[in-house]
Amino acid sequence: MELTGSSAVITGGASGLGAGTARTLTSLGVRCTIFDRNEDGAKQLADEIGANYVAGDVTDPEDCQRAVNQAAEGGNLRIAVNCAGTGWVGRVINRDNSPHDPKAFKFIQELNVLGTFYVMTIAASAMAGTEPLADGERGVIVNTASVAAFDGQVGQLAYSASKGAVVGMTLPAARDLAPVGIRVMTIAPGLFDTPLLGMLPDEQRDALAQSVLFPKRLGQPLQYGALVAHIAQNSYLNGEVIRLDGGIRMPPK
Ligand SMILES: NC(=O)c1ccc[n+]([C@@H]2O[C@H](COP(=O)([O-])OP(=O)(O)OC[C@H]3O[C@@H](n4cnc5c(N)ncnc54)[C@H](O)[C@@H]3O)[C@@H](O)[C@H]2O)c1
Repeated sequence: MELTGSSAVITGGASGLGAGTARTLTSLGVRCTIFDRNEDGAKQLADEIGANYVAGDVTDPEDCQRAVNQAAEGGNLRIAVNCAGTGWVGRVINRDNSPHDPKAFKFIQELNVLGTFYVMTIAASAMAGTEPLADGERGVIVNTASVAAFDGQVGQLAYSASKGAVVGMTLPAARDLAPVGIRVMTIAPGLFDTPLLGMLPDEQRDALAQSVLFPKRLGQPLQYGALVAHIAQNSYLNGEVIRLDGGIRMPPK
């Protein structure tokens, strides 16, 4: 798919993987709308790279609709990238044998699964009404899972459940949207150098980097953005999950 002149909505675009995606797509001539609940961060990056932004919450369908409308305003909404999300640490039972906090479990599913669902469905609805390209393609949706969908570690019950759901939505969504020429892909990142991991002390980040097969370092958000751009450009990628992880396989702990 030709990217120049198309529009994209990027959730979580103010930081980390979403920001890497916004930078990469903008540099390729895509009109990007950063959709993030961090208004200051979204505005700052949008001003820097020449993008638009919408402040809002991906768990609120009205905010998602606003963001998609804004992205579609300039015409040619072809790309929706879901990067808003977060992690949680909690075991099935706590140290005192009390059960996992159900509110925390629900919060993570709402943010990582329902947020992805809202933006995917609302963006697909808008894309379906656009004029198709010469080969019948109308657009692409890229969702963000995690290697935790496959290699969930101790304490990742809620997070792995949410990312497993994102993986599980990939093929049925691609099948549902094939008749209108919209592809659906998921990226499962390994360990990336974003504020999410920036909270860890340096020694722990170095130890994590050493656990990557090759190269022994954390992934860069621009490498994530580069894969999103490739997925958007390569119309033969559909209904698949790509691990972007330097070959890492997470151990139990
Ligand atoms: N960083 C990693 O190593 C890594 C690895 C695997 C998967 N992931 C996944 O990638 C995604 C992005 O992670 P990141 O590392 O870039 O994190 P990040 O914290 O740097 O960025 C996340 C962005 O999402 C926004 N956001 C959070 N909740 C929101 C909401 N309800 N509505 C709108 N915006 C919201 C935040 O404001 C932030 O700008 C997440 O889904 C995360 O689980 C990250």
